[in-house]
Amino acid sequence: MKLTQAILPVAGLGTRFLPWTKVVPKELLPIGNQPIVALLVDECLDIGIRDICFVINRGKEMIPQYFYDMPALERELEKRGKLHMLKELSRYHNVNFHVVYQDQMLGDGHALLQAKSWVATDSLAILFGDDLIVGRENGLQQLIKGLAALKNPKDATMLCLQEVERSLIPRYGIVGIDASWKAPHVRLRKVTKLVEKPKPEDAPSNLGIVGKYIIPRSMFDILHRIAEGSHDEIRLIDALIQRNGMEIYGCVFEGTRLDTGTPEGYREAVKVLG
Ligand code: UTP
Repeated sequence: MKLTQAILPVAGLGTRFLPWTKVVPKELLPIGNQPIVALLVDECLDIGIRDICFVINRGKEMIPQYFYDMPALERELEKRGKLHMLKELSRYHNVNFHVVYQDQMLGDGHALLQAKSWVATDSLAILFGDDLIVGRENGLQQLIKGLAALKNPKDATMLCLQEVERSLIPRYGIVGIDASWKAPHVRLRKVTKLVEKPKPEDAPSNLGIVGKYIIPRSMFDILHRIAEGSHDEIRLIDALIQRNGMEIYGCVFEGTRLDTGTPEGYREAVKVLG
């Protein structure tokens, strides 16, 4: 199975990084010599995705701008013989970047819905802005391998799962799993149930959902139905809970997760990757 499209919802306000995020989107904070969002784009490129849609809000245009060609600058670098830099700038030449706006902060599912008409493939990757997985393979590489191991990957959803400490369970979407399922891969789980931010005593397991997904296009129809007539937040987890008979699997990732969405997590990511 090959994926060619990914949506990166990066419209959030980044309140945990205020006042910095008044002027610079948190996704452009540097880790080493790249901004966080470039590491997410690289994660897509590593599995052959070449069609990437950013969901942004007004004021975050700098995010797509980072990836656009700048022919005048490239000519100047060539003139000056700065070939290493030129090579760095040309990395994204064969990638199609698309931008849609989310004008109201109505949740991650609402952000995805803004890109519905752009989706042209049966399955696609969704990468939220904060989570990086470091190890032998990045997050998407592990998810696509998991999907490929299934008998019928076409309409399935693949979640990225992490074992979370009991005290942290109320911060996560937690899955219930089918213990009798014969997994074709040691890290794969079949998901029977999803509960958003449960109390530890009500949680069906200790497996929490991390911000990377492979979803079938039909998920957008469920999101659309949820959105009709709703004035509340529209969340991807609600569409997953409604699922409509769709099979959901999870891959317990291998490696270390870095959550760059908090100042402490960002500092840790700089330590590990910077
Ligand atoms: P968060 O809940 O972490 O929000 O969003 P945030 O704005 O990024 O950060 P804080 O909590 O204010 O500090 C998780 C992901 O979902 C996207 C965000 O950009 C981030 O990638 N998101 C969330 C949207 O694109 N739109 C939304 O309405 C909500």
